[in-house]
Amino acid sequence: MTPRHPIHPALAPLARAAKAFGRALLTQGVASPELVVALRNALRGERAWLRPEHRVGDPVRYMRHLLYVDPDDEFVVTAITWLPGQSSPVHGHYVWCAFGVADGELFEERFRAPGTMLEPIGTTLLRAGDVAELDLGGPVYHRVSNRSANAVVTLHVYGVSAARLTTGINRLFPDA
Ligand SMILES: [Fe+2]
Repeated sequence: MTPRHPIHPALAPLARAAKAFGRALLTQGVASPELVVALRNALRGERAWLRPEHRVGDPVRYMRHLLYVDPDDEFVVTAITWLPGQSSPVHGHYVWCAFGVADGELFEERFRAPGTMLEPIGTTLLRAGDVAELDLGGPVYHRVSNRSANAVVTLHVYGVSAARLTTGINRLFPDA
């Protein structure tokens, strides 16, 4: 994978907020609200970072586009394209993550797993401009899916190094 250090100017405030967020979480255990504000700003208005190819997707599975890698390898910014009918597996996260919807509508189901079974907590329909509930790598699981007739584009920030992008984020249920 090729590291992406240059950043689209429209995403620069988000990267700054993600840097501060990750550092504060690590050193003080505090989740600063600036990350959610910066993410919401990136999802609303002009969204100049959103390119036409982000709406194309992959018919086989949801498609991840790497938009930015922190030079210190503390976080990555990605867009994900969800074609109609595509969904994630039920999963939690090994790392902190924040995401929201840039285009379209995404359905999110949240679960907890006190034992060997999943218990539904609730569902949310996330619309363009909405930010999902922040996950600090806690015990909650979720599954997101595109139940609409149009492509959906989401924007994600993960507290993970680029080298661990494919294996270091999703904690599948049941644990492998
Ligand atoms: Fe997730």
